[in-house]
Amino acid sequence: MLAVHLVSFFFSKLQEDPTKKVDRFLYAMRLHDDQLSDISARFQAEMKKGLSVESNAAAAVKMLPTHVRSTPDGSEKGQFLALDLGGSKFKVLQVKVREGMGIRRGGVEMEEKTYPIPKELLVGRGTELFDHVSESLKDFLHEKNISLDKKHPLAFTFSFACEQSSLDQGSLLGWSKNYRARGLQGKDVVQALRDAIDRTGGMDIEVLAMVNDTVATMMTCGFDDNYCEVGLIIGTGTNACYMEELRHVDLVEGDEGRMCVNTEWGAFGDDGALDDYLTEFDRDVDAASNNQGKQIFEKMVSGMYLGELVRLVVLKMAKLGLLFDGHVSDALRTKGKITTANVAAMEEYKNGLKNTRDILTGLSLTPSQDDCIAVQHVSTIVSFRSSNLVAAGLAAILTRIKQNRNLRALRITVGVDGAVYKTHPQYPKRLHKVVRRLLPECHVRFVLSDSGSSKGAALVTAVAQRLASQKRKVDETLSPFRLSHEQLQLVKARMRAGLEAGLKRKGSTAIKMLPSFVYRTPDGTEHGKYLALDLGGTNFRALLVNFKKGLQQNTRLHHKIYTIPLEIMQGTGEELFDHIVQCISDFLDYMGMKNARLPLGFTFSFPCRQTSLDAGILVTWTKGFKATDCEGEDVVGLLREAIKRREEFDLDVVAVVNDTVGTMMTCAYEEPTCEIGLIAGTGSNACYMEEMRNIEMIEGDEGRMCVNMEWGAFGDNGCLDDIRTEYDRAVDDFSLNPGKQRYEKMCSGMYLGEIVRNILIDMTKRGFLFRGQISETLKTRGIFETKFLSQIESDRLALLQVRSILQHLGLDSTCDDSIIVKEVCGTVSHRAAQLCGAGMAAVVDKIRENRGLDHLNITVGVDGTLYKLHPHFSRIMHQTVNELAPQCNVNFLLSEDGSGKGAALITAVGCRLRQELNNVDNLLSS
Ligand code: BG6
Ligand code: BG6
Ligand code: GLC
Ligand code: GLC
Repeated sequence: MLAVHLVSFFFSKLQEDPTKKVDRFLYAMRLHDDQLSDISARFQAEMKKGLSVESNAAAAVKMLPTHVRSTPDGSEKGQFLALDLGGSKFKVLQVKVREGMGIRRGGVEMEEKTYPIPKELLVGRGTELFDHVSESLKDFLHEKNISLDKKHPLAFTFSFACEQSSLDQGSLLGWSKNYRARGLQGKDVVQALRDAIDRTGGMDIEVLAMVNDTVATMMTCGFDDNYCEVGLIIGTGTNACYMEELRHVDLVEGDEGRMCVNTEWGAFGDDGALDDYLTEFDRDVDAASNNQGKQIFEKMVSGMYLGELVRLVVLKMAKLGLLFDGHVSDALRTKGKITTANVAAMEEYKNGLKNTRDILTGLSLTPSQDDCIAVQHVSTIVSFRSSNLVAAGLAAILTRIKQNRNLRALRITVGVDGAVYKTHPQYPKRLHKVVRRLLPECHVRFVLSDSGSSKGAALVTAVAQRLASQKRKVDETLSPFRLSHEQLQLVKARMRAGLEAGLKRKGSTAIKMLPSFVYRTPDGTEHGKYLALDLGGTNFRALLVNFKKGLQQNTRLHHKIYTIPLEIMQGTGEELFDHIVQCISDFLDYMGMKNARLPLGFTFSFPCRQTSLDAGILVTWTKGFKATDCEGEDVVGLLREAIKRREEFDLDVVAVVNDTVGTMMTCAYEEPTCEIGLIAGTGSNACYMEEMRNIEMIEGDEGRMCVNMEWGAFGDNGCLDDIRTEYDRAVDDFSLNPGKQRYEKMCSGMYLGEIVRNILIDMTKRGFLFRGQISETLKTRGIFETKFLSQIESDRLALLQVRSILQHLGLDSTCDDSIIVKEVCGTVSHRAAQLCGAGMAAVVDKIRENRGLDHLNITVGVDGTLYKLHPHFSRIMHQTVNELAPQCNVNFLLSEDGSGKGAALITAVGCRLRQELNNVDNLLSS
């Protein structure tokens, strides 16, 4: 019985598939999906660590910013020399890029020559290595008959970890693979190259960009595939790069857009993060390497080490008697005797076994058929583990990109290069399969770099060249908008002179300084129910306000918003006022108050020359209004006539009020120090409490009166022409009121978008925006409303969202376009805020001087969509006031209830005064 068992045991042993014992022996190298997901998660954590400024110093995976901000868009062009150093071959190239447009990419022509690098140079002095590089370059120029007289831009692919502070600077963090030249670590490699070129002499070379091979590979592949945002090398070494959101790249300033990050994932595990996955063979490979303890992941994955791993496994198995009947040859004991090319050959589809036998025989071994099957299987497990590890790393990167972009699914292309990927027969298929299994929701395409990395390096260089010239042009265009402190001081001084002239009414002054017949701010005694209208801002509103004496917080306010269609704004005066009265009628119905003849305050946000509180002659329409037969007329009269025409209800129009005045009153009701009103909205204007003695057109010297400055017209006499740009003039020329409201047209919401649009058109015409294509949308007046400017400039928006706003507006933009558009918006609104601040500085200083004070504390009541919605306007405006009026402490109070409430307060005072006058009359007549 026992004998039978023994026989069957030996029989089964004899029958056993030789791959099984290899499977058992290399159990630890066969990673299943759970382990790959675990490794992937660890790598994700490493990426985070490397990106963060706090943990970067201690991070093994360095996540190096590359200063490459965009993938190719077809507009790259030029002729470049290129060097490709650090892969298995050192090459010098000439790359010619012909420009294309959009998806129609240009063409690339390349000529190249491989120069061998003597082994001793790899480990000799750095300067000698670079001398060899530069002499090879010179030889190339000779051989290809490239002129030595001309300056040649050069792109440098340097496939080692470098810390870059710009595209053309990078200090070597450490050598890897088979390089170990002395004296370069920590040094700027670009400078080392330039020095070597100088030493060689006789060439005029401008090194414009240095890139890692992963980055260059991504760019090479990105030239044909827009979705390529990852670069991968599985060659002598291994590494990957990808497009990261700049806001996550702590080491580089700025939040806009993306930047390619060179992960240097070869160093994954250098801090022990992969220790539990390392086998004794990995430890042996590391121990025998020239960079012990470094590039742990690379040593499990890349071409320089795969053959060695196979040799060590085979050697160990042979020693244990599991192969070759326990026979071991000297060759098998020798480092480097099995290469990665051998591994690829052993795994060839048809000839694999035969190749294995030849290789083993070449190592003075006499393998059986089973030995060959087993050794082939060792190769398979080692190379399979390599592709699995790469898949885990890639899965981490793709997951991160997907999360960055808040996507559930991701479509992306990975550009790949390197001898292992290119020459190993099974590798690509295995890699693709595992990545797709780990990330079923991602549509991943792999593209082999057809022409090495130099095409990509040249593209980066071309972009660098283009961006530098584009930046110069953008700066040139925007520089007239960037006002110096001196210029702002001049604006303040001119505003002061302008308002003084307005108060004195000398000739026809630009700044009208219109008396408002409001003598004081509210004192809390106001009470009763009032109607108010608020016409001239973004919204037309009807309001009912109920004040309780001394109880500010108990004020009741009901309102309804109405629209005024453009054809009414610009139709006849009668139509406009009939429309207003129709809205009042609707509001009274809505409130159930048709029969109560309520007093009404009319906020009318246009310049009116008032002779009393309830009479105001419209000087001129401003902003978007142009109704006929109103200018020169008393608007209260026009309103009363329209009420009469309707014959439906009666109202007692007590006051006509500018919105600045209404706003000042609204705010003063809460805050008694409020003596200035400011509107930064569709239009721009201010009012303030001026001394009666200074207002020449009004009799009486006692006390104060609120003056509606109408500062929007500042500059109409030409005094701002030196700071107006051609774009301001274009906006003015095409406006409803050319030549008028020049200051308003530089700083209010109605015009900022138009200024932006005019700049964008010009930039597009000059070819550095929207690929030179002026779309119909861009030709459309008024597309950039203030709310879009506010959105575009919001700090919380990623560039992608800016792009989608532009897309929504019908402007098809690239990432670079969006950056420029945002900069244009920012510059225009910054100037607007500064100009408004300069105007306000003049006002507060005037009040301070009126009162003979060294120091003034004052509050400004403010309203308007620009002030309320724009992310930076208010801050910059406040800052400018502080800088230009250092003797004033100016507090800005946002009007919460609009100016209608203020108009109602003025109406309340008006009613009381009228009552008092009536009482006096009665007294006198009795
Ligand atoms: C080449 C690239 O095609 O691939 C090099 O041009 C890169 O820049 C190399 O370093 C990587 O592969 P290998 O196998 O040569 O290390
Ligand atoms: C509102 C006021 O809140 O702001 C209006 O009630 C004023 O009277 C307006 O005209 C100004 O802002 P915009 O942006 O609507 O012109
Ligand atoms: C090494 C280098 C890295 C390079 C990779 C592939 O890992 O450190 O910069 O990208 O090899 O060549
Ligand atoms: C315009 C008007 C002015 C108004 C301002 C803000 O400048 O002329 O009266 O105050 O816009 O709405």
